[in-house]
Amino acid sequence: MKALITSGGRGTRLRPLTHTQNKHLIPIANKPILHYAIEKVVDAGITEIGIVTNQEACEVVEGIGDGSRWGVNITYIPQEAPLGLAHVVKISEDFIGKDSFIFYLGDNMVVGDVKRFIDAFEQDSVNCYLTLSRVKDPERFGVPEIQGNRIVRVEEKPRVPKSQFAVAGIYIYDHHIFEAVNNIQPSARGELEISDAHQYLIDHGYKIGFSEITGWWKDTGKPIDLLEANRLILEHYEPQIDGEVDDKSFLAGPVTIGKGSRIVDSNIRGPVIIGNNTVIENSYIGPFTSIYDDCIVRNSEVEFSIVLNQCQIIDVGIRLESCLLGNDVQIMQAHGKPRTHKFMIGDQSRVELV
Ligand code: G1P
Repeated sequence: MKALITSGGRGTRLRPLTHTQNKHLIPIANKPILHYAIEKVVDAGITEIGIVTNQEACEVVEGIGDGSRWGVNITYIPQEAPLGLAHVVKISEDFIGKDSFIFYLGDNMVVGDVKRFIDAFEQDSVNCYLTLSRVKDPERFGVPEIQGNRIVRVEEKPRVPKSQFAVAGIYIYDHHIFEAVNNIQPSARGELEISDAHQYLIDHGYKIGFSEITGWWKDTGKPIDLLEANRLILEHYEPQIDGEVDDKSFLAGPVTIGKGSRIVDSNIRGPVIIGNNTVIENSYIGPFTSIYDDCIVRNSEVEFSIVLNQCQIIDVGIRLESCLLGNDVQIMQAHGKPRTHKFMIGDQSRVELV
């Protein structure tokens, strides 16, 4: 069994963060999204991993490396253009060969192991195994139509979904998937759709197994998805304090503080993770917040937010909530006259004022 993980895509709904950073490298609970996918397949015992990248994806190659830190081999497979998930599979045929493989969309996050799906794929001797998740908005996803215990149809982003399920981005295939991806045609949006490959398998009598993901599953496509994924990861996080906490500070609930960080006269209500060399001073950090390395939060309040590297939040008079701050962002009180809001904000940023 091999693994194929995606790391491409434009991440348009996560701009401006994705103007300067590949979506898959955005940290959730201070760890890049892509690490979660890699760790899931490594935990399932897989040692040969292919990562499909955008043509210009050196930051993924640099950030992830050759796999030695996980004791596995990582092979990079460049995709010349975003031509669809079935195209990703198609260009990976040489890497996969005759093996079976788990195809894992690098921006999908699940709780629990994926070995249970691999075991079911093998025990049921199916050609393809799909994982389903009950969602409120199936029209955003590939949607199965289920009759009895069989999937009889899979439609990509249907206007009228035939079930409440999304086909989640964790699929297991044997080599027949290559027959499918080599025979389907591009959709109206010009992509080779993975749902059409699944439909091909159904139409040609191949066996499809499936099960519902009963833990949670998140496709981290939108800003709120990142905050939700952050919340859910932090809910399961084992706290650890490596930094310093002074006597005047108060920590409640699971709180992780990295090396070289200092908490001074502050109130931190977990689950919260704070990275390395960050200073929190005379501030409140509320539940489900991740603050990365080398940040300063002084005389301010932050809750349910993700704050990346080297940010400064200083003397901010209102609580920041549901915020996603990129690297090196500064939010601070204005000094001098006139007393105005001053912004220097990059393309496609969002600011909500009260
Ligand atoms: C893709 C697939 C879709 C699947 C989804 C899961 O959609 O095309 O079938 O349900 O991933 O994340 P996309 O994220 O490209 O819109």
